[in-house]
Amino acid sequence: MLNLVEPQHNAAHNVPAPVTLCRRDLKPGFGSEILNLDLPTADAATLAAVVDTFHRTGAILLRGQQMTPQDLLQFVRLFGQPEGHTLQEYTLPGFPEVYVLSNRVVNGKPIGAHNDGVVWHTDYSYREEPVMCTMLYAVEVPAEGADTLLADICAAYDALPEGQRRQLDRLIVHHSFRHFMESRVYGKAETSPELFAQNPDVFHPLIRRHPADGRKALWVSTGTVKGIVGMPEPQGSALVEELVEFATQERFVHRHKWQVGDVLMWDNRCTLHSGTLFDDTQYIREMHRLWVKGDKPY
Ligand code: OGA
Ligand code: MN
Repeated sequence: MLNLVEPQHNAAHNVPAPVTLCRRDLKPGFGSEILNLDLPTADAATLAAVVDTFHRTGAILLRGQQMTPQDLLQFVRLFGQPEGHTLQEYTLPGFPEVYVLSNRVVNGKPIGAHNDGVVWHTDYSYREEPVMCTMLYAVEVPAEGADTLLADICAAYDALPEGQRRQLDRLIVHHSFRHFMESRVYGKAETSPELFAQNPDVFHPLIRRHPADGRKALWVSTGTVKGIVGMPEPQGSALVEELVEFATQERFVHRHKWQVGDVLMWDNRCTLHSGTLFDDTQYIREMHRLWVKGDKPY
């Protein structure tokens, strides 16, 4: 089902810009595949409509793109300031903002992080200001596997019984980079004491509001979560686990099957995501990832 987006207002001149994006939902009520658009040559008004669609629908997909690292950087800057990456060893030479996810080995050295996000999570949740969005560009993809899953956690919040929503509204989650690095199964890496010192524990609300329209998200995660403030263990972690399970039911999840040239961006303020495994003895995967700085969850 295709539908057309209303013409966007051009903020600078306060006149309607002649832009109509051709789009369809990734999943009913969530995300947007934007069709017939070539990012490197699109005009400013069209790109503004793309950004607006992203903020309103939680994720965007554009297929068949040919993006140099410079193009990726230029595009992501429309959304905000690029964020650096915690581990620098896998960034593209000359592009510290572009992180490589890959199982490719060149001259005995991996060119990227392998199986980096194979668990339900939201990026950079161990920082005071987690990244607003994550963009992945598919350079090479396996014939099967390595899908990326996106959960619509605003829909999950809305589906909770009202009494439970009210209880959860007040809870604060304890996030820890140390806990994350010490407990992760996939993508484990040596972590220096300096890196731990740069990433002290942080506390975020369990229910997060989206600054665009105030919609609420069930902002749980795994990996970085140590527990819930004021709740004894293991009850805190058990509640988090139960909520992750609730939020990642099939009815809230979009499964993205990659094609080379896909640009997929998701809004970490209103989604959870997870990578999935693939046969890495048979296939190569290479993705370029960019992050945009975010603000403090409230
Ligand atoms: C990430 C991530 C999942 C994937 O890059 O933050 O979680 O499918 N990636 O590569
Ligand atoms: Mn991730």
